[in-house]
Amino acid sequence: MSTSETATASSQSGEVAPARTAHHRRYLMCKPSYFTVNYSINPWMEPANPTDTANAVAQWQKLYDLYLELGHEVELIEPLADYPDMVYTANGGFVIDGRAYVPSFYYEQRRGEAPAFADWFRANGFDTVMPKEINEGEGDFLLAGSVILAGTGFRSAGDSHREVSEVFGREVITLTLVDPRFYHLDTALTILDPVVEPGQTAGIAYLPHAFDEASQRILAERFPDAILVADEDGAVFGLNSASDGYNVIISPRATGFEKQLRERGYNPLTVDLSELLLGGGGIKCCTLELRGAR
Ligand code: ARG
Repeated sequence: MSTSETATASSQSGEVAPARTAHHRRYLMCKPSYFTVNYSINPWMEPANPTDTANAVAQWQKLYDLYLELGHEVELIEPLADYPDMVYTANGGFVIDGRAYVPSFYYEQRRGEAPAFADWFRANGFDTVMPKEINEGEGDFLLAGSVILAGTGFRSAGDSHREVSEVFGREVITLTLVDPRFYHLDTALTILDPVVEPGQTAGIAYLPHAFDEASQRILAERFPDAILVADEDGAVFGLNSASDGYNVIISPRATGFEKQLRERGYNPLTVDLSELLLGGGGIKCCTLELRGAR
């Protein structure tokens, strides 16, 4: 079920960028009906600054509508009044081949979300695996071709990398985050090619300075063709984006990244989630990929 929209683009060097294909995606989202910032667990959250729940809902709705317009499927989980961060469903689990690894949140303020996500996965036919280790789902785990890129340093514990590798029987590459503004892996790195032919490397983009030197070396070695994003695009959460392999939904403020994507033959589309950035989240944070199971 993949719609084939291919396009070519010329890069600055005059080379023709590869043709890209849009793949059908299935996502889990949660309407920010109770969105507010009444605690601070990352540097973006300032409880003293006012938030506008109606605006959060309106901005979120645009993202939801765009996914449907692009032909994707979006499932919804019911928001819980006591959990304003539940809109960031990327933290609700990590799902591959119909198996859902449930999160165990680092901060007390979000712990009550985990049982709700576990119930949703069970009710929707996923093989639901409860965690022993602290982990924040697709916020810190990203599937790049056949391997799992796993972030640590702020939220998901190093031990969860071993656990996630056991749960899915896949190689896990540990990456250490060092800048508190980029506390989840999905704030500093994005997977551009969600579907990759065996033996090929997934296209990725990342913000080098968000990682320690050892992780930067690993990324450079494993992903030599990656797009390296400038600090100013990273700082507006440009990397917190969702790609179907052709269409890449990004923040309108990440203008440099937008250009880089075009040069590589992707089709950047912008959605402004400025209200949700007050909670320290963006496009990817509001999107959990559901792979497999029906
Ligand atoms: N306020 C939330 C937190 O700090 C934001 C989560 C953003 N999610 C993400 N996948 N990066 O946990």
